[in-house]
Amino acid sequence: MCGIVGAVAQRDVAEILVEGLRRLEYRGYDSAGVAVVDADLELKRVRRLGKVQELADAVDAQDVTGGTGIAHTRWATHGEPSEANAHPHVSGDIAVVHNGIIENHEELRATLQERGYVFQSQTDTEVIAHLVEWERRTSETLVEALQKTAAQLDGAYGTVVVDRKDPSRIVAARSGSPIVIGFGVGENFLASDQLALLSVTRRFMYLEEGDVAEITRRDVKVLDVDGNPVEREITESNAEHDAGDKGQYRHFMQKEIFEQPRALINTMEGRVTDKAVVTEAIGVNAVDILKKVEHVQIIACGTSYNSGMAARYWFESIAGVSCDVEIASEFRYRDFVVRPNSLLVTLSQSGETADTLAALRLAKEKGYMSAMTICNVAGSSLVRESDFAFMTRAGTEIGVASTKAFTTQLAAMLMMVVSIARLQDRMTEEREAEIVKSLHELPANIEKALAFDKEIEALATDFADKHHTLFLGRGEYYPIAMEASLKLKEISYIHAEAYAAGELKHGPLALIDADMPVVVVAPTNDLLEKLKSNIEEVRARGGLLYVFADEKAGFEGDENMKIIQMPHVDDIIAPIYYTVPMQLLSYHVALIKGTDVDQPRNLAKAVTVE
Ligand code: AGP
Ligand code: GLU
Repeated sequence: MCGIVGAVAQRDVAEILVEGLRRLEYRGYDSAGVAVVDADLELKRVRRLGKVQELADAVDAQDVTGGTGIAHTRWATHGEPSEANAHPHVSGDIAVVHNGIIENHEELRATLQERGYVFQSQTDTEVIAHLVEWERRTSETLVEALQKTAAQLDGAYGTVVVDRKDPSRIVAARSGSPIVIGFGVGENFLASDQLALLSVTRRFMYLEEGDVAEITRRDVKVLDVDGNPVEREITESNAEHDAGDKGQYRHFMQKEIFEQPRALINTMEGRVTDKAVVTEAIGVNAVDILKKVEHVQIIACGTSYNSGMAARYWFESIAGVSCDVEIASEFRYRDFVVRPNSLLVTLSQSGETADTLAALRLAKEKGYMSAMTICNVAGSSLVRESDFAFMTRAGTEIGVASTKAFTTQLAAMLMMVVSIARLQDRMTEEREAEIVKSLHELPANIEKALAFDKEIEALATDFADKHHTLFLGRGEYYPIAMEASLKLKEISYIHAEAYAAGELKHGPLALIDADMPVVVVAPTNDLLEKLKSNIEEVRARGGLLYVFADEKAGFEGDENMKIIQMPHVDDIIAPIYYTVPMQLLSYHVALIKGTDVDQPRNLAKAVTVE
C-alpha cells in the first residue's frame, strides 16, 4: 500500500501535497494524484500515471490553488495502473484517497450500482467515495458519513476524505493501515507516514485501529472505534529530513544496519494482518500468478543473490514449489530452459544492476509466466520493466555494502512464500498465523540482535589482523554465511569465504590453522547436531572458532572457541535475525582497519555496467 497526504490550511496546499508524495516515493507507486478545493468550491483533481514528477509538472501547469486538499501515490492492487484508476476518486462533492484493500468491494459495488452510482474505475477504492457520498445525504456531518461508511468496509485500509462543499475540514479513518496527523500553526495535516510531513511539522499524532478523525485549520478531533472522543498522544519527531543525513551514526552503513527494525515494519505495513499475508498487496494479479506458479527462477547479483539463495529453502520447504537461484551474469549467457508455469523473480536493491536488467530482458522473451521484481527503488528500470514489483520499502540505502535491503528482501520473500503455500493449499491457517506472528515479532527480535553491537565490537579485534576468514552455515544459514563473507570482503578487504559446513571435510579443512578464524552461524534447529560435528572437525585441527548460537544450543566456549549466545527466536525468521551480528562484525572489523566503510575501494552502489 502506498502514500497519503492531506492538508487544511490558509495557504495553497498543492505544493505541500506534492512534496509529501515525493517523500513517500521510496515506498513504490505506479501513479499519483491530488484533489484541491479552490476558492469557488470546485474540486481541482489532477492525476498521472508514472512518476510523481509528472504529477508535479501537471499541477504546475494548471491553476491548482486552494487551502484544502488530499493526495495519493498508488500501488495498484485492484485495477491496473492507469490515470483512471489513480486516486483521488470522486463521487459528487466527495473526493477520497485510500491505502490498502477493501475486501468486500465487489458486493459494495453491486449495491452502489443498484443505487444508481456509475463507476469510473476498476478500483476497490471507488466504493468508498460513493459510500461516503451516499451516507453524507443522511448524516449531520462528514465525520458521521465516514463512520457509517467505515462500518461497512472489510479489509485493511487507511482513507482520507474531503467534501468540496465544506473545505474547512478533512476526515480520515484508520483500519489496518497507518494514518498520522501533523500539527501546524493555523494549519493541520494528515499522512500515511510522518516522513511526508517533515517539511511542515514535527508534531504528530498517530490514529489507532478503528479511529476516525476530523481535522480543521485549528482543531483535531479523534473518535475511537465506538465513536467516543479520545485524546491520542502527540509526539515530537526527530526523524531525519532525508536519508542523506547520518544522524547520530558514523557511517550510512551503520545507520542502515540500525534502521532494519523500522525498515522491516515498512516492508510489512499493509501486507500482513494479525493472522495472514495480504497477497493482493504484493501486486496486481499476484493472487492469480502465485496460485498457478510451479517454479520460481530467482535472478540477482551480490547480496541480492545471497538473499535469493536463503529464500530458496523456504520456496521449496514451505511453498512446495521448485526454486532455482542464479547469478544474473551467468544466467544471461547460458541457454536456460524455462519450466512450465515459471515465475521469474529478480532481486535488486537499486533496480539498475546491468546484469540483472539484461537477464530480465532476455528472460521476458523466453516464455516465463510472469516477471516480478523485489526491489527497493521505485521508478527504477527493473520496476518499470517487470510485470509487477514488490517493493521492499527499506528506505534509501546509501552504504555500498547492502544491509537493510537484504533483510527486507527476505521478509518480502517470506510473505510471498506464505501466499503461495496458502493459495496452493499447502499451509493451514494456523501455520500461516504462526509465521505472520513471527514476522510481527521480527523487528523487536532484530532490536535484540542489535543489542550485541558492543560485544561484537570487542570481538572484531580478533579479525582485524587476519588475512582470511571462513564462514560456515548449514541449510538456509549457508547463504547467511555467504552474505557474511561478502560483507567482510567488501568493507574490510579481508579475504573471506563461506562454506556449507558439511562440505568442509572435502578440502577446505586443509586451510584451518590459528590464522584462519572460523565463524559459524549455529541456530538451534534440526541440523545443529550435524553442525556441532563440523565444529569439532575444526577444533581438532586447532582452528579459532566464533560460534553465533542461542541459549538452547548448549555450547561451552573455551580459549579457542568463543560463543556469542543470542536469544532464541522462531526458526522461520532466524536467518534474517542471524544476519545482523554478521553485518555488525564486518562493520566493526572495517572500522579497525580504517577502510572507507560507506564507499569501499573499487565498488559502486549500483553496478550499472557489465
Ligand atoms: C552488496 O553489499 C554489494 N553492494 C553488491 O554485491 C550488490 O548487492 C550487487 O551489486 C547487487 O546490487 P542490487 O541489489 O542493487 O541489484
Ligand atoms: N487498493 C487500492 C487500489 O488498488 C489502493 C492501493 C494502494 O494502497 O495504493 O487503488
